[in-house]
Amino acid sequence: MPTQAAEILARLGIESENSGAYSDEWIDCAGQELVSHSPIDGSVLATVRMADIEDYDDVVYKASKIFARWRMTPAPQRGLIVREIGEELRKHKDDLGALVTLEMGKILSEGRGEVQEIIDIADFAVGLSRQLQGQTMHSERPMHRMYEQWHPLGAIGVITSFNFPVAVWGWNAMLALVCGDCVVWKPSLKTPLSAIAIQKICGAVLEKHGFAGVLTLVIGTNEEVAERMLIDKRLPMISFTGSVPIGRRVSSIVNERLGRTLLELGGNGAIIAMNDADVDMVVRAAVFGAVGTTGQRCTSTRRLFVQKGITEQVVEKLVAAYEKLRIGDPMDPETLVGPLIDEAAVAFMKDGLDRIREASATVIYGGEKIQGCYVKPAIVRAVAGLKILKEEMFVPILYVIEFEHLHEGILAHNNVPQGLSSAMFTSSVVSSETFLSHAGSDCGMANINLGTSGAEIGGAFGGEKETGGGREAGSDAWKSYMRRQTVTINWSGELPLAQGVKFDL
Ligand code: UN1
Repeated sequence: MPTQAAEILARLGIESENSGAYSDEWIDCAGQELVSHSPIDGSVLATVRMADIEDYDDVVYKASKIFARWRMTPAPQRGLIVREIGEELRKHKDDLGALVTLEMGKILSEGRGEVQEIIDIADFAVGLSRQLQGQTMHSERPMHRMYEQWHPLGAIGVITSFNFPVAVWGWNAMLALVCGDCVVWKPSLKTPLSAIAIQKICGAVLEKHGFAGVLTLVIGTNEEVAERMLIDKRLPMISFTGSVPIGRRVSSIVNERLGRTLLELGGNGAIIAMNDADVDMVVRAAVFGAVGTTGQRCTSTRRLFVQKGITEQVVEKLVAAYEKLRIGDPMDPETLVGPLIDEAAVAFMKDGLDRIREASATVIYGGEKIQGCYVKPAIVRAVAGLKILKEEMFVPILYVIEFEHLHEGILAHNNVPQGLSSAMFTSSVVSSETFLSHAGSDCGMANINLGTSGAEIGGAFGGEKETGGGREAGSDAWKSYMRRQTVTINWSGELPLAQGVKFDL
């Protein structure tokens, strides 16, 4: 086991064998055993007994039951509980961040950053708990009043991915809590321990306040648990983060029962670097975007479009920066690039690079397997229009693509099925405004002079096209977790009909 792992696990209450489901208490699960391996060295961190279908039913039953009481708790009081959750997470931030590193392989600083992201959204949600505001409208009828109010939805199903084992749940859960919803969390089977640790900490706060069952956890197979969630009418909404093909399935099954979905699917992030950009900043942003989290963010930079005048300079500096990357144990604070999640991802990267070569693009740097789950991030020279550029390979491969004119760069940038995050580096207001105009970036997030990844929680996070259209985290994303009710009150003593319709008996 990696250095200090045993102590970190112990401090977070992770045993060598763990239950994979929590309803209003930890369940004696009856499903298969799941082994959590560290991608750092392949060692076993701990095992988890997964939930079977009956365990799952118990979880959803409890969450639906407690919802009746939770929804009637005033939102600001729910906010106070979220504040305590945030405080507890603050206390355990370093250990939780290290556990994310041990189990997922992202470097320590990013593991901690991920926990910080939940703390941030908890703080945001506390304020929001006093601001779940509706509008008032003027009625066309005398002595009538109209307004809208927002009600909780119920128990929300949250299915998360390995790459952000805890933060994306946090965006959903903290908002859901202040909105008065309960949460049924199905984490990735690649990162079960991070989920158990978070559930222990956050669940304990709710238990203390008599609300055990508001946040629940169910670790089980996709066939048994995730598929059941999709058809389960007790879950009015499914928030899903993952691949486009699975997202399509989630969407069709949940929409078939007229449930709601909140989808955060593939990204294919790109930076457009204009001739007037600060080249050093471009390179720093592209490197972090492409190799940060070992290229396993939805927001990772996969394509770097460079205007003709600065291409050679950018490529030279990029290669020099890649040569300096410290690849290795992510628990070492000096490391910049940790392992990929598993051997399958390593094999996928190799296969991807073979296909890239077949597509007549040139690998100009890296791409080799080092050992275990460690790879050398790759830089590829490609030309716009190649079909392979439309694919999101979830590994550290960065395409550098030259373009000549602004509009041509934007067209090439948008020429992918995904639409999550985008960036332009320029000192020209004309270029940046063009990029931000209706004819500019078609993504859910567009940045000027900063990279594609590392969004703050205050904005709405999500994207267009095959990214799925969902919005999580800040701004008014909370509205996805509530149902809107338009209220009309008549205090006139008469019964006038709208639109002047007469219907006198
Ligand atoms: C993801 O990759 O699914 O903007 C989430 C970012 C992070 C979240 C990424 N704050 O890169």
